[in-house]
Amino acid sequence: MRTQVAIIGGGPAGLLLSRLLHRQGIDSVVLESRDRDYVEHRQRAGMLEQGTTDALRECGAGERLDREGLVHHGLELRFGGAGHRVPITDLTGRTVTIYAQTEIVKDLVALRRADGGDVRFEAEVVGLDASAPSVTFRSGGRTHTLECDYIAGCDGFHGVSRPAVPGLRTFSREYPFAWLGILADVPPSTEELIYANHDRGFALHSLRSPKVSRLYLQVSPDEDIAVWPDSRIWDELATRFATDDGWTLREGPVTDKSITPMRSFVAEPMRHDRLFLAGDAAHIVPPTGAKGLNLAVSDVIILARALAERYGSGSETLLDGYSAACLRRVWRAEHFSYWMTTLLHTDPAASTFERRLQRSHLEYVASSAAAATSLAENYAGLPIAG
Ligand code: FAD
Ligand code: DHB
Repeated sequence: MRTQVAIIGGGPAGLLLSRLLHRQGIDSVVLESRDRDYVEHRQRAGMLEQGTTDALRECGAGERLDREGLVHHGLELRFGGAGHRVPITDLTGRTVTIYAQTEIVKDLVALRRADGGDVRFEAEVVGLDASAPSVTFRSGGRTHTLECDYIAGCDGFHGVSRPAVPGLRTFSREYPFAWLGILADVPPSTEELIYANHDRGFALHSLRSPKVSRLYLQVSPDEDIAVWPDSRIWDELATRFATDDGWTLREGPVTDKSITPMRSFVAEPMRHDRLFLAGDAAHIVPPTGAKGLNLAVSDVIILARALAERYGSGSETLLDGYSAACLRRVWRAEHFSYWMTTLLHTDPAASTFERRLQRSHLEYVASSAAAATSLAENYAGLPIAG
């Protein structure tokens, strides 16, 4: 079996790459270890930068996004019992869109099925060779080999691609908290996202549709989800979002509940020979800045351009610059995500001095156009170079 680009992983990075390559006339096979239903229903990201929505539209995956996506022009920082709006569009000229990762994955799988793409579920890659490029995978109880010109490692943080890069340098940071995320069948209590800082911990109110809310609570990293019945989650959310003017949180049936650890991680370089890492396979950000999915998208845009140049003119210039081009953007997003996380979470080990500094920082962002613009331009996303 042979293809031009073997793509390991059928998450947003792998699926979008396969579609972008198809538009350039480049063949690929996507190998995804999980089944289609699992991949299409794994609850994760929801906030898309304008560069991400533009890219989805350009590759033909914009129809439902334009119909169902919720375009936002600002967000709220809530602390000390009051809300402070950051007017993202006024400050940057850009918008962000709420549209769930699950829906992007469904749209891309459907598109690839319709355009004759080869996306294989329950196909787990167990080995790869980055020099005489090929990947070995298990599917239907048998082991197969797929030969190729290039391998795209889009297999997330726990995949097989990154361990196949020799001499990798890694940089990481663990945080003393995790996020408990819920999806609830209740109309959102807000039109714009609320990022709340409270002495008891951070909380985020996001949404999925006019009828579905997505909410997150800071919990400890070793938290047991069993000690969080729904009633306790709603009580804690109401406490952390409470304002002096009596704002209320609507409650409803919880349909999904999970805990996500928080870490920052970067692997350098993002290439070894003919293997290219993209998305969570190469880097992780804590979710506070909503950057993970957006970075996965920008990586594969840069990779698709580089492969198009290679198959078009034969030049490898963009391929050679791939890792550096991605890492510039990755490190900016790493810093922003770390900064947002530190600004908004309550570190149980922080001294009273550090808590006062944090409050001063929040007040500065809420009251200074310069500070708010810095948050807004990073949140809305910087241009995709490369
Ligand atoms: P993944 O989505 O992890 O996909 C990798 C795929 O590879 C998986 O389907 C996996 O099954 C498959 N795979 C693994 N190993 C193998 C193998 N050996 N063989 C074959 N297949 C394999 N990001 C944002 O931008 N905005 C947000 O608002 C946001 N919110 C988030 C909230 C939460 C709670 C979480 C957990 C994450 C959030 N993120 C957000 C991050 C975002 O979800 C990830 O960055 C994104 O999923 C990365 O996409 P990916 O395709 O690189 O990796
Ligand atoms: C969502 C997740 C985030 O991490 C974030 O910062 C904003 C929104 C979401 O799932 O909707």
